[in-house]
Amino acid sequence: MIKIENLKKYFDLGGEKFVHAVDDVSLEIYENEILGLVGESGSGKSTLGKVIAGLYPKTSGTISFKDKVLPQKYKAADFLLLSKDIQIIFQDPYSSLNPRMTVEEIIGEGLKLRGFSSTEIRQKVKEWLEKVGLNAEYMSRFPHEFSGGQRQRIGIARAMIVEPTFVICDEPISALDVSVQAQVINLLEELKNSMGLTLLFIAHDLSMVRYVSDRIVVMYLGSIVECGPADEVFFNPQHPYSRLLIQSNPLADPKVEKARVHTPIKGEIPSPVNVPAGCRFAGRCPQAMDRCHSETPKLQEVGETHSAACHLFDQ
Ligand SMILES: Nc1ncnc2c1ncn2[C@@H]1O[C@H](COP(=O)(O)OP(=O)(O)OP(=O)(O)O)[C@@H](O)[C@H]1O
Ligand code: SF4
Ligand SMILES: [Mg+2]
Repeated sequence: MIKIENLKKYFDLGGEKFVHAVDDVSLEIYENEILGLVGESGSGKSTLGKVIAGLYPKTSGTISFKDKVLPQKYKAADFLLLSKDIQIIFQDPYSSLNPRMTVEEIIGEGLKLRGFSSTEIRQKVKEWLEKVGLNAEYMSRFPHEFSGGQRQRIGIARAMIVEPTFVICDEPISALDVSVQAQVINLLEELKNSMGLTLLFIAHDLSMVRYVSDRIVVMYLGSIVECGPADEVFFNPQHPYSRLLIQSNPLADPKVEKARVHTPIKGEIPSPVNVPAGCRFAGRCPQAMDRCHSETPKLQEVGETHSAACHLFDQ
């Protein structure tokens, strides 16, 4: 459904300084799958999502949607056309809803832009409020009158009302209480199945990603380091970074968790402004070799449908 080739997104800081937020990412997203995207804070997950949705222009590279190459920078008409297919649910349900708009205006905006009448919009908003488990009478209220979980449901209704085929869910539950996280995940899964959606699911919580995703992509400092079927990446990670990331993920069973030996990932993720030469993980990698500091590893096959970018797999 989506083919991304050599995608780069650099933010210009002025004075010849650039944030290499997404640096040479190539990736395919298959129709009807849930692709999980994980990585530490600052690894470029949201930026990648926003570039795919056209919210940021690309620096270079191409993105195709159903074999059609998307423009480098969207014009208003491109947006209207593409946002019918591609929608995004944002990381923060508090800042992503306009506080001065009513729920009806927020959810109905996509339909208004497409020329639906106010009667049609009201009817559809009512239907969608019910589908996401909110009372249709809430339509005239403002975002501050809702809890975090309810706001995220409003964000979901806003994205789904135009009946998209591809939805980017950017950490849709990380700002929510644990008690409502599972409800929101179940709602997304139900909608995915009933609408036949394809999802890019960005998250921090690896066990949650493993649970919902068909495949997992691991990002580190703007690059993909590993990609494969969810269970394979989770139970048999190949890249040294993915291994440490998965090892540092707490287990659900408190007894097993307490008995486990943790190896924290040493050091901090380097600045994306001064990207180190060679492998970006070399400064923190327990298996780093000399060449890792000068040669950039390419993503290569480590299994039939499993790949990793690491010199340990060079022939
Ligand atoms: N508009 C912007 N201008 C300049 N730098 C930016 C901008 N947006 C993001 N960045 C930088 O790009 C890098 C990637 O940020 P991004 O938000 O994509 O990371 P992330 O993986 O989504 O992190 P998190 O898990 O914290 O949400 C970071 O270093 C961030 O500071
Ligand atoms: S390429 Fe080298 S430094 Fe990078 S992850 Fe592999 S072994 Fe570690
Ligand atoms: Mg983010």
